[in-house]
Amino acid sequence: MEIDFSDIKTYLNNCADGRLKYRRQTGDYMTCTVIVGGFYGDEGKGKLIAYLAQKDKISIAVRGGVGPNAGHTFAFNGKKYKVRMLPSAGLNMNTKLFIGPGVLVDPAILQSEIKAFDSQDRTFIDPNCAIIEKKHVDKDSSLDHLAQKVGTTGTGTGPANADRALRIAKIAKNIPELAVYLEDVSEAVNRALENNENVLAEGTQGTYLSLYHGNYPYVTSKDVTASAICSDVGIGPKSVNEVLVVFKSYVTRVGQGPLNEELTSDETGNRGWQEFGSVTGRQRRAAPFDLALAKKAIKLNSASQLAVTKLDILYPECAGRKDYANLPNKAKQFIENIENQTGKPVTLIGTGEDLNEVIDRRDQI
Ligand code: IMP
Ligand code: MG
Repeated sequence: MEIDFSDIKTYLNNCADGRLKYRRQTGDYMTCTVIVGGFYGDEGKGKLIAYLAQKDKISIAVRGGVGPNAGHTFAFNGKKYKVRMLPSAGLNMNTKLFIGPGVLVDPAILQSEIKAFDSQDRTFIDPNCAIIEKKHVDKDSSLDHLAQKVGTTGTGTGPANADRALRIAKIAKNIPELAVYLEDVSEAVNRALENNENVLAEGTQGTYLSLYHGNYPYVTSKDVTASAICSDVGIGPKSVNEVLVVFKSYVTRVGQGPLNEELTSDETGNRGWQEFGSVTGRQRRAAPFDLALAKKAIKLNSASQLAVTKLDILYPECAGRKDYANLPNKAKQFIENIENQTGKPVTLIGTGEDLNEVIDRRDQI
């Protein structure tokens, strides 16, 4: 079927189950959304999740993914926040912050984030989360294969997942200091969905860092596609309403592994695409937006909507814009080319660092 993306409403009204149309008519936006990265991580998921948590009534934000190897960054009113364990929804005091059983927990990092967000009373972690210990961190940075060949973040996640697979890792329910936070996450999330509350499942890393779907061995220590995120938090595939795949306006990669059309460091700087890893401080490698990767990521994650972040880096005139209609034509063409080539609507567009610097086209639904 040919879809006319010049009118995003047409597409959304034609969605197979009519769910979005129903939501538009009733104003009932309650939904279960899974958010994942479409490239190699660092697409800007954190900022969008922080935005959605402020904008929508998110009852539960639940983190899936690997663990503290991922740093999600967001900014609000001139202040920057970074989370490596908690979901990126901490600024909404009414949102409960959950960590699913699939995720590895580093207790010290978790405790410092709970303190920073003053979230003692609204943080819950699953008793089955496996624990990162010092020996895992040591192994991650001392094994040449991990530190040099793969270029891991050195946060102990790979060795901890290895111990988990060997069934010798500690789990959260063995750690007294975590006792106050323990909660059956899957049970809580499924109960919230039954009560028609909004749940946001936050993925980490990006599709092509997946142990299964990325460029092995230059990958992280588990799958990180939308299906894996569902499994990490304990929801079945039929409970998900929306899968939002987040792309950046260009591609970056930290650590080793292939990167198509990689730019030189000078060229990266000239284009203003220079970035540094939020966990490791390493300079990120950069390349132009990759449609082939985007198309495959959409399939791997069964995307229903797309987000494109950092449009202001590609087109500085877009900085801080919140309206789509008045964007410069070349910026619109960039977005619409993605929609036409992928067959999916770009509903959220990042135009700056602050969590409110977003063009939200969902209101056209
Ligand atoms: P590990 O996940 O620390 O074992 O690292 C494996 C690979 O994934 C390395 O190339 C890391 O740089 C990369 N990686 C892991 N987590 C992230 C992330 O959150 N953003 C970007 N790259 C990541
Ligand atoms: Mg990151």
